[in-house]
Amino acid sequence: MAKRPYIVGNWKMHGTRSMLAEARAIDRAAERLMKVEVALAPPATLIHATRKEADLIGVGAQDCHAAEGGAYTGDISAAMTKDAGAGFVILGHSERRTYHQETDADVQAKAASALAAGLNVIICIGETEAQREAGEAEKIVAAQLAGSLPQTPDAGDRITVAYEPVWAIGTGKTPTVDDVNAMHKAIRETLHSVYGDAASEIRILYGGSVNAQNAAELLAGPEVGGALVGGASLSAESFVGIVVAAA
Ligand code: G3P
Repeated sequence: MAKRPYIVGNWKMHGTRSMLAEARAIDRAAERLMKVEVALAPPATLIHATRKEADLIGVGAQDCHAAEGGAYTGDISAAMTKDAGAGFVILGHSERRTYHQETDADVQAKAASALAAGLNVIICIGETEAQREAGEAEKIVAAQLAGSLPQTPDAGDRITVAYEPVWAIGTGKTPTVDDVNAMHKAIRETLHSVYGDAASEIRILYGGSVNAQNAAELLAGPEVGGALVGGASLSAESFVGIVVAAA
């Protein structure tokens, strides 16, 4: 059976406890919209409280360290993330790759650590504007993906991939529906070449300036399994609009 569309809100570095009201409202809406799997990735400081406030939606983290523990001041391991109440972790977001110099190998190691700790993973990939203009988008994304995927084919049902073109994040610009569909098809091919049959289990999300107005169109493609949403996930009203569009 095909998996439900998966709509994940990435709150990035936004939110103090006052934002829990939005999480509660999103949770209540999810109860009415069971055709869609809904999740939020609040900042690490809110994972525990979000899990307590929201019963139905998934709650996840935005990063974890690859090591099981040790002298890494300020970092949080996968097991700690799970202990705080997370069920999944977003890894390899372009903001982590840019501001924290994360490489594909780092993402792969974090993903292996997260899966071992019992977390599901959402692995992000995406090209820059210059790479797209140079006609290299599919090649770049395929290489990023192959380098970032954990070597655990049996974990196919615990892995999600998010295609987020860097130039579409927070800019209001989106690729054409045809470009999204072509990229998702290419990503599916790479997943099959790495994981074989287990790749069919993996949902491929689109992320980058998704809002309640453009979601239905962006999500309509055969290989688009949902959305990873930044700015529009910060208010229940706009995020629920996207969930409704996906239902
Ligand atoms: O991870 C979600 C993201 O990077 C997209 O952000 O604000 O363009 O929806 P936004």
